[in-house]
Amino acid sequence: MTTKTYAPSDAFVSKAHADRATYDAMYEKSVADPESFWAEHGRRVDWIKPYSTVKNTDFSPGKVSIKWFEDGTLNVAANCVDRHLETRGDQTAIIWEPDDPKDEALHISYKQLHEEVSKFANVLKDLGVKKGDRVVIYLPMIPEAAYAMLACARIGAIHSIVFAGFSADALAARISGCQAKVVITSDGAPRGGRVTKLKDNVNQALINVMHDVTCLCVKRTGQQVAWRPEGDVWLHEAAANASTDCPAEEMSAEDPLFILYTSGSTGMPKGVVHTTGGYLVYAAMTHQYTFDYHDGDVFWCTADVGWVTGHSYIIYGPLANGATTVMFEGVPTWPDAGRFWEVCAKHQVNQFYTAPTAIRALMAHGSEPVEKHDLSSLKLLGTVGEPINPEAWNWYNDVVGKGSRPIVDTWWQTETGGHLLTPLPGAIPTKPGSATLPFFGVQPVILEPTSGEEIHETACEGVLCLKDSWPGQMRTVWGDHERFEKTYFSDYKGYYFSGDGCRRDEDGYYWITGRVDDVINVSGHRMGTAEVESALVAHAAVAEAAVVGYPHKVKGQGIYAYVTLMNGETPSDELRKELEVWVRSEIGPIAKPDLIQWAPGLPKTRSGKIMRRILRKIAENDFGSLGDTSTLADPAVVDDLIENRMNRD
Ligand code: WTA
Repeated sequence: MTTKTYAPSDAFVSKAHADRATYDAMYEKSVADPESFWAEHGRRVDWIKPYSTVKNTDFSPGKVSIKWFEDGTLNVAANCVDRHLETRGDQTAIIWEPDDPKDEALHISYKQLHEEVSKFANVLKDLGVKKGDRVVIYLPMIPEAAYAMLACARIGAIHSIVFAGFSADALAARISGCQAKVVITSDGAPRGGRVTKLKDNVNQALINVMHDVTCLCVKRTGQQVAWRPEGDVWLHEAAANASTDCPAEEMSAEDPLFILYTSGSTGMPKGVVHTTGGYLVYAAMTHQYTFDYHDGDVFWCTADVGWVTGHSYIIYGPLANGATTVMFEGVPTWPDAGRFWEVCAKHQVNQFYTAPTAIRALMAHGSEPVEKHDLSSLKLLGTVGEPINPEAWNWYNDVVGKGSRPIVDTWWQTETGGHLLTPLPGAIPTKPGSATLPFFGVQPVILEPTSGEEIHETACEGVLCLKDSWPGQMRTVWGDHERFEKTYFSDYKGYYFSGDGCRRDEDGYYWITGRVDDVINVSGHRMGTAEVESALVAHAAVAEAAVVGYPHKVKGQGIYAYVTLMNGETPSDELRKELEVWVRSEIGPIAKPDLIQWAPGLPKTRSGKIMRRILRKIAENDFGSLGDTSTLADPAVVDDLIENRMNRD
């Protein structure tokens, strides 16, 4: 099978930070001598006390430990804000585009950002927040979300952002999980013309939180909110007299910067911990090279700051580089399917970074909404979050990019802090659907899944692991280092296991084939099937549930739930609706099952283990190849499940 490759134009290459020769030379050095490579590139950020050691990492079983630049000290907010004041104080740091296009966009300069962040930091201090304390941020995509993140970084508090689409229950679990002192929210969150009552969710969440939490509330919509008798504070009141002077705390490179909860294959979401020095260096360097960002460019990443993509490529990477970064409160399809392109034209966006699910959703509206807008400012397009199918890639390339902009398909994870596999746009010809080659310092390997042996042939397929550390790697699971080791370093000893399957072609290009564990990827968002299952069985009518993914035209994967009801419960469409609403309220709208099948029984081994492989096949409508079902306790349940399957596309 030959795949068409797309090489960057000579004009692009001539201006790019890295052409092929530069990439090859830098990559070679980065893996041959990581110490000296990162010693040099670590200096791209400002250190208070320079580091004398660079890499101190160990993937060996039982003693996994990851440290970079460990004796250096710095402050992330000073790097993202203060150090630009002299050279670009009046340059726009953040362009904020509101949900409603009729409302005014904001251009926040580095000078203004400095004032706002300092004030916000002083408000947090007044609330008793100290270095090392946790602060949960549950905000819409408003400038205050950026101020709050950077204010935490400024005073050394650890932020943990909870996506505003998560429910009160999910929020409560995260506030308790990291024992947050403060939760920052807003009255309401406008999105796509509708408003979510965030403060109400916080009130509801805090009923289930056992420790005292202060709620700092941003006035976004002006709607009525219920105030708790104690512990609620309006930001605008607290900030009214706050000083704009707040010294940046000197942090050790390995002090935590943030915790971000993410779904895994078992149990509840885990708190991924990223630290200060290595993360910032890696976010900044990938932002510059992957997107070929140049001074003066306008960069737009359409993610929400509630996900890692928003952390690294709306806030920390771009701002560390002194970029102009766009923050968008709305959605791609409201008021119409041209909104992304309208914003690109309005703010003269140069690099545009989004998810395949958004591309597929917009593709369904045809090319007209794109063609109405002048997209000549675009120099590069990017994707993240899930494999991109060739149809979506081609549409993105032809209709949005007019066939002349490089597309960077970036593979990475919450755990990796920044891109691991990605083309450098001036260096690597792309192939639709491939994340191509490793970033500097990244050593991908493909292992044979059962033996765990490294496969050395160029063309092969297996599970994707990393042989050595990179500065942006997560350091631990909050409060549970054992879980960190078990999740990522125990299946394949001596390697970091990504959880993804992968193919390498004859040119050495990597093609992600999707998760090999019980994690599904719904619209580019990670969802643990175990989480949805435990939400379902928490409903009084449900005895047992098994959740798997199935191919979905727009979302990439949809959520397929097999539900066994309690004795005496009768299946009905009403009950199905009720379960959907239930899961929404337990986790959030992104976890709502797309299809629920009533299952009188689930296929189990004689030892009682659910055979998910079979459930996956049935959900995929591919029951011709169910494989060996002879080990099942009761093979007849499979016939019933096939007979009553929901996905008959
Ligand atoms: C998937 C998002 C294919 C993958 C940054 C990974 C991708 C998971 C790509 C991480 C890509 C991300 N091609 N698959 N370009 N990017 N993935 O933690 O399965 O939300 O393990 O991080 O998304 O999702 P997470």
